[in-house]
Amino acid sequence: MEILILPDPAAAERLAARVVADRILSKPDLVLGCATGATMEGIYDELTRLHREENVDFSQVRTFNLDEYVGLEPTDTRSYHHYMRERLFSRVNLDPAHCHLPKGAAGDLEQEARAYEALIKVSGGIDLQLLGLGRTGHIGFNEPLSSLMSRTREKALAPATRLQNAAQFGGDPAAVPARALTMGVGTILEAREIVMVVTGAHKAEILARATEGPITSMVSATALQLHPHCVVMADEAASQQLEGRDYYLWQFANEPEWQPYR
Ligand code: GLP
Repeated sequence: MEILILPDPAAAERLAARVVADRILSKPDLVLGCATGATMEGIYDELTRLHREENVDFSQVRTFNLDEYVGLEPTDTRSYHHYMRERLFSRVNLDPAHCHLPKGAAGDLEQEARAYEALIKVSGGIDLQLLGLGRTGHIGFNEPLSSLMSRTREKALAPATRLQNAAQFGGDPAAVPARALTMGVGTILEAREIVMVVTGAHKAEILARATEGPITSMVSATALQLHPHCVVMADEAASQQLEGRDYYLWQFANEPEWQPYR
């Protein structure tokens, strides 16, 4: 794992979008794992700009989202299907037939989860997975005690997560669906490359636990420490509690790999 510390959220979002664009340039039919949440909004804005102003071509890209709320129809404005259409799919030249999210409104969720895993596999697996970090340290909706080998499945949401995501549901945590269909930690770890973006002082403590703390199913993001190609892009505020801060700053400033991005 590498941690890159950027001066502010916009710089972290721009860097993540630039890495996605570069991967599309070198593999036009990239399989991109998408995440949702406030952190991703700036990344999708920047990808939209790169498409419009620098002709980044999404026509062959395939996408797979991490998760969807159970019971929400894709047309529901609070669904992640809606979020993705608004924030990315309708703004770049992605083929709607190439954009996949687990169907939270499916009648048989176990069958839907199996079908989703199978679709990822036949697409060749995820090349680059974007991630945010939830308050409970979750990736996707892999709440505390999620098996670090878990696959796509239905998961009950932790109270802290329902509180975190209440804004999209009129501010009422009780209105947030109690369950979600989410890729498992094991599914996420199979991506060839992972970029996790974490910004804001409110994420400083959980970021330190996720990256520098012991690996534990209590914080599913700690499993990323096992991944051979995972980069965390954090802003100054989120990096405040990192023990290795000075080293990480040095790495971004000096490592040749990051030279084109400085
Ligand atoms: C949600 C999503 C996660 C996301 C996390 C962080 O619960 N399921 O995929 O990473 O929240 O969200 P935010 O970026 O809004 O802090």
